[in-house]
Amino acid sequence: MRLQDARRDHYRKLAHEQGFRSRAAYKLKELNQSYRLIGPGFYVLDLGCAPGGWTQMAVKLAGNQGKVMGVDLSYVEEIPGAQIIRADIEDEFLVDEILDYFGRKVNAVICDLAPHVSGNWTIDHAKQISLNYECAKIMDKVLMHKGNAVFKVFDGEYSMEFRDFIKKKFSRINMTKPPASRKQSSELYFVCLGYTG
Ligand SMILES: C[S@@+](CC[C@H](N)C(=O)[O-])C[C@H]1O[C@@H](n2cnc3c(N)ncnc32)[C@H](O)[C@@H]1O
Repeated sequence: MRLQDARRDHYRKLAHEQGFRSRAAYKLKELNQSYRLIGPGFYVLDLGCAPGGWTQMAVKLAGNQGKVMGVDLSYVEEIPGAQIIRADIEDEFLVDEILDYFGRKVNAVICDLAPHVSGNWTIDHAKQISLNYECAKIMDKVLMHKGNAVFKVFDGEYSMEFRDFIKKKFSRINMTKPPASRKQSSELYFVCLGYTG
């Protein structure tokens, strides 16, 4: 077995044993270990949450005093401790629903969005980056001062443009790839700390 396959199997097995719906949960866990995006008591908005691994992990990290909402186009089975909304992130009513649920601005916005992939990287990359700009519009309305965010990025031609755009809104930004993310995949994570608006 190749090392990459062994690693994928390791995370799949771990997810199964620990009751997480996706291996992706471990990417968030690892990002959090390095950057402390989410702490106890945090209010967390998860954009593009299906099947729910990140949402489950966010519930765990935020604890009893925290509040978590996940949003996705696809149906997501109920997650204890989280509110799930089935919606398009471009839905104009979404921001009101988010703020109604939390009752205040959130501490962290986590975005792991991916479009339906066509197999044409140029198109898939451009679509994925454009989803991140949509997330940033929501973030600007719901994230509190000094809050944190993370964006999955399909790396390509427009990644640095997006980095420069988002960088201006935070005190610190790190581009990273957690060990749970396959080496061959072209995804990166932009971890953004200390929202300044
Ligand atoms: C990689 S998956 C997320 C995995 C998730 N973080 C987890 O841990 O289980 C990406 C998700 O983005 C969602 N998505 C893509 N475009 C969207 C949109 N416009 N509005 C809402 N969700 C969208 C897809 O439906 C898909 O479920």
